[in-house]
Amino acid sequence: MSRRRFVCGNWKLHYGVLETTQVIDQIIRGLDDLKHVDVVVAPVMTTLFAACNQAKKSNLQIAAQNVFFEPKGAFTGEVSVAHLRELGCQYAIVGHSERRRYFAETNEIVAKKVKACLEGSIAPIACIGETLQEREQGRMHEVLTSQLEAIFSVVEHATLPYVIIAYEPVWAIGTGKNATSAGAQEVHAFVRGLLVDQFGHVANQVRILYGGSVNPENAAGLMDEPDIDGVLVGGASLKPDSFLAIAHA
Ligand code: PGA
Repeated sequence: MSRRRFVCGNWKLHYGVLETTQVIDQIIRGLDDLKHVDVVVAPVMTTLFAACNQAKKSNLQIAAQNVFFEPKGAFTGEVSVAHLRELGCQYAIVGHSERRRYFAETNEIVAKKVKACLEGSIAPIACIGETLQEREQGRMHEVLTSQLEAIFSVVEHATLPYVIIAYEPVWAIGTGKNATSAGAQEVHAFVRGLLVDQFGHVANQVRILYGGSVNPENAAGLMDEPDIDGVLVGGASLKPDSFLAIAHA
């Protein structure tokens, strides 16, 4: 089963409009003929309008770092799936560990966001991952299973291929301590197994990304593994050269 590779840069709370458009310009120029990979960046919310306009007619695609699950109403400060769609945004990162940690996003909230994305034709990049403590307590599989079950509860066979799962062990994010390729593959195979148990063969169409201290040196090794279909990159995606090196890996 061949799944199209997926490389996504998560710019977190970094560039404003000016820097975003400068960096996107360099990325677009560096992508030229890279047609067999989905290359995506997720810039700050206020830059999405400019970023989406700039990326139109290029190989670069744009993701939001977050989205709200309600379509409209008295929800001060929130942005809906339809708002993202209107800009031309194709993806939204949902349930990143920083959102779970600092913004109290539970599995239930993550599931609602995944559901809203699928209903509104935005492909969710749904993040899962265990903390160091959970791993050391031998609870990794239990934690990943409950995170995935929440997501599975809102997905159907027909919508499953649009879901992208990002396995990001929390202890590897921004720490420089990435999982080894073999270690990450083991977890990805476990995730794939749960997907297959729940949905059958269509699960083989789902892309599972690895995230956590990915850089130009380790990206190719990770993506050589059979169940690692791409990467979600934080720090190393901020510089066009290193992000392009990862995309070309
Ligand atoms: P990192 O972040 O690459 O800086 O570890 C990854 C992420 O948070 O998505």
